[in-house]
Amino acid sequence: MSKLPELRLENIHAGYDKADVLTDVSIRVPPGKITCILGSNGSGKTTLIRTILSLTEPRSGKVWLGDRDITGLPTHLVNGAGIACIPEGRKVFPKMTVRENLYVGAYREKSKAAIRDRLEQVYDIFPRLKERTGQLGGTMSGGEQAMLSIGRGLMAAPQLMLIDEPSLGLSPRFVKETFNVIQRINELGVTVLLVEQNVHQTLAVAHFGYVLMQGRVVAQGDTEQLRANAEVQQAYFG
Ligand SMILES: Nc1ncnc2c1ncn2[C@@H]1O[C@H](COP(=O)(O)OP(=O)(O)O)[C@@H](O)[C@H]1O
Ligand SMILES: [Mg+2]
Repeated sequence: MSKLPELRLENIHAGYDKADVLTDVSIRVPPGKITCILGSNGSGKTTLIRTILSLTEPRSGKVWLGDRDITGLPTHLVNGAGIACIPEGRKVFPKMTVRENLYVGAYREKSKAAIRDRLEQVYDIFPRLKERTGQLGGTMSGGEQAMLSIGRGLMAAPQLMLIDEPSLGLSPRFVKETFNVIQRINELGVTVLLVEQNVHQTLAVAHFGYVLMQGRVVAQGDTEQLRANAEVQQAYFG
């Protein structure tokens, strides 16, 4: 079980220049669970993750880690608190090998032995990455790059992973594999905040969640409640 306390966004307003993107967003990410944010394109999902990482400064509102106010805490210190991000579009380094990509994820770790242990753990979860250890990231398939980006995140030994639209652009087979891996990582004790458009697969693995529409939380609850929710029904199930 994760030792990281609950992450909380409290009445967050955020945006870019004159554009308001997030309006009064409050969410909780309880330790040990998979919390999801469902929202269509442009609803503000990535902005929400950027706010947690202090890549976007909120206009108002707070980000809490337990009773610690981490609003605006420099990104490397947010990472240092045990929070890793698997970015939208995966952002694999194309000219680096699989192994080198993975090492980047462990950039904060000084101990060579710890890095070796983590590499073994990642190879254990993703045998395919071990097989391809010397291959350049850019020559991996989309599904393999998805695995690599998650593996790179794991190399930080995070207690909380922020995962931004992992299913984007993947074939159904790899979508399923990716969500299975996320579930497995959670079972290993990592708290997950999963941001997605793929409602069916996400609700199949998440414990709780929120629905964002045009930057506002319009529904929240456990996955059963979300599935039954009228807004969700209308937006996603037709
Ligand atoms: N760097 C930026 N500058 C200006 N507007 C942006 C920027 N990034 C995102 N936006 C706008 O903010 C809104 C929300 O975007 P985003 O958070 O990326 O949504 P999502 O991840 O749900 O697709 C969109 O209207 C998008 O065009
Ligand atoms: Mg996005």
